[in-house]
Amino acid sequence: MRRAIFPGSFDPLTNGHLDIVTRSLPLFDEIIIAVLNNPDKNPMFSVEERCSMIEEIIPSLGGNGCHIVVDRFSGLTAHFAKERKATAIVRGIRAVSDYEYELRMALMNRKLEPTIETVFLMADEEFSYVSSTLMKQVFELGGRVEGLIPPSVEEQMRNKLATR
Ligand code: PNS
Repeated sequence: MRRAIFPGSFDPLTNGHLDIVTRSLPLFDEIIIAVLNNPDKNPMFSVEERCSMIEEIIPSLGGNGCHIVVDRFSGLTAHFAKERKATAIVRGIRAVSDYEYELRMALMNRKLEPTIETVFLMADEEFSYVSSTLMKQVFELGGRVEGLIPPSVEEQMRNKLATR
C-alpha cells in the first residue's frame, strides 16, 4: 500500500492544489489530503468548512485507481504522516521561490521521521502564481479569480464575504 499525505492549510483549496492531487494519483494507492487545523492563524474557513469543500470536489477528480481521503490534523505533519502509516509527504512546487522553504520543511520532516520521504511535484505553470493567500486578497477586493479556484469554492467565498 503506497500511501501519501498532501498536507496544507487549504484556506481555500485552489486549482493549483487540485493539479498537485491529480499529478499524485498515479504514484500512490491512497492520498490523504491533510488539512491543518490552525484556528490561531485566523483562517477564512474553519477546518470543517475546508474539509467539506474538498470532499465535495473529490468525486470530480476520478481517482485513477487511487483512493482519495480528506482528513484534518493538528501538530506536526511528520507525526500525522507516521500515525496514518504514510510513506510520503507530497508538496507542490510552483516556482524556485518555493524551494528554499519547502527544502527546509522536507529536511525537518525527515529529521523527525526518517522513513517518510517528501515528494515534490511541479505544479502546472498555469498555476505558478496561484496561492490561497493571493486568491483571498484578490477576491476580497473585488478581483476575478475564475479558473484559479473551483467554482464551488468561489461560491463559498462569496457566501463568506456576504455574511461578514
Ligand atoms: O500549503 P501550506 O498552507 O503552506 O502548508 C504548510 C504546512 C501545513 C504543510 C506546514 O505549515 C506544516 O507542516 N504545519 C504543521 C506543523 C509542522 O509540522 N511544522 C514543521 C514543519 S517542518
